[in-house]
Amino acid sequence: MKVAVVGTGYVGLVTGVVLAELGNHVICVDNNPEKVKLLQSGQSPIYEPGIEEMLRRVLKSRHLEISDSIAYATQNSEVIFIAVGTPPGPDGTPDVSAVKAVAAGIGKSIQHHVVVVNKSTVPVGSGDLVEEILISQGASPDLFDIVSNPEFLREGSAIRDTLHPDRIVIGAKRHEAAEKLVELYSTLEAPVIITDLNSAELIKYGSNSFLAMKISFINGLSRICEMCSANIDDVAKGMGLDQRIGRQFLNAGLGWGGSCFPKDVVGLVKTAERLGYDFELLQEVIKVNEDQTLHFIDRMETRLGTLSGKRIALMGLAFKPDTDDIRDAKSLVIIQQLLLKGATVVAYDPMATEHVRRIYPQIEYVADVEALATGADILVLVTEWNEFKQLDLAAVRALMNQGILFDGRRIYGKAAAEAAGFEYFAVGS
Ligand code: UDX
Ligand code: UDX
Repeated sequence: MKVAVVGTGYVGLVTGVVLAELGNHVICVDNNPEKVKLLQSGQSPIYEPGIEEMLRRVLKSRHLEISDSIAYATQNSEVIFIAVGTPPGPDGTPDVSAVKAVAAGIGKSIQHHVVVVNKSTVPVGSGDLVEEILISQGASPDLFDIVSNPEFLREGSAIRDTLHPDRIVIGAKRHEAAEKLVELYSTLEAPVIITDLNSAELIKYGSNSFLAMKISFINGLSRICEMCSANIDDVAKGMGLDQRIGRQFLNAGLGWGGSCFPKDVVGLVKTAERLGYDFELLQEVIKVNEDQTLHFIDRMETRLGTLSGKRIALMGLAFKPDTDDIRDAKSLVIIQQLLLKGATVVAYDPMATEHVRRIYPQIEYVADVEALATGADILVLVTEWNEFKQLDLAAVRALMNQGILFDGRRIYGKAAAEAAGFEYFAVGS
């Protein structure tokens, strides 16, 4: 099938490259000339395991073209995905200006029938908005269909998630339009659910908000565990074995960050507000998430008396492992708070250092854990990259000034940390 994808971020690029790999002819479009150039030369502007190899393969086989022209993409595709960003605006309401701009570009260029697919996470009602924009730009209603096809891929495992989704959600007004997407995805083995536009949009917000709620719930329980010496891992295991609950997304930690959960939870609160419902439960989910990180820093301060002048070493900066993405990463809040309290902050991340350096040029960045630990008072595990799981803890301890380990993702365990000579504090214990 002839497909176009507008926006080459985590969602758009992975979608485009995977659809090309599946044998479609895909045009990926971006309005950033630097990104277009990079992609044309076979380099990925984002770090995502496996994406660059696949990109090169599909460019070579000519299944993928990179372009800066929405008009070219519209005129040479049967299905065109809108996969541009929808960052939160000042009050948390998703900013859909990029979606609107792309819709206008598509509307101006339509010459034959095309299915316009919203893949970006957009507030309920955005399908109708895109339709209005297309018509306002002169597109004849019989020359397009609007479909909502939300994306559920996770960064770090984006290719696998795209090839093996739990489900494919297709929201459409006309069944024929939905069928076009069913055909496009026919090689994937996944249940397909066809709904109206608003339901598909709400499935995305509902799913992300529910997962964030699960994490905030276990993090709330982790606070109770800290006070009554219960073991949060055992609690999560015992709860998770109930199939109605499930073990996934019950890992207690510093809380959820990233490009989706923070904006989607607020986005759903705002959508509810707009429609006249005060979704207090979700507001509390956000509050628990914020408190979780601040409480962790309070514990460091309690342990040392003051953080002023102390050398605090952060392991990991990305919002999760296997990505260079730092959007709403917990590391950013931690750095901000530590600097406010007068600490000296030193950090190491395998992929995300340069992104954080742009925001916090005043802290020290090092190239490995050895340099990080040297002379530090507290070592803080922020992001659970694999290389941090494989450390020789005793050797790391020997480099430090004070051997205090704060484990924000519970990867080490008390016994191993203490055997290596650490004084160990973890979320939940
Ligand atoms: C519930 C729990 O499911 C069970 O694990 C616990 O031990 C006791 O409470 P039960 O009382 O049998 O079990 O009711 P259940 O059918 O599970 O649901 C309770 C209420 O929640 C019902 O009124 C049901 O209509 C409502 N419900 C259930 C929902 O509103 N939505 C749902 O998705 C599920
Ligand atoms: C999420 C959704 O999972 C995905 O379906 C959607 O398309 C985009 O948003 P992503 O943000 O890439 O994906 O990462 P995810 O693995 O979901 O983690 C989100 C955040 O939750 C991370 O900060 C992670 O550290 C945190 N998390 C996750 C926990 O704290 N505990 C858990 O048990 C799971």
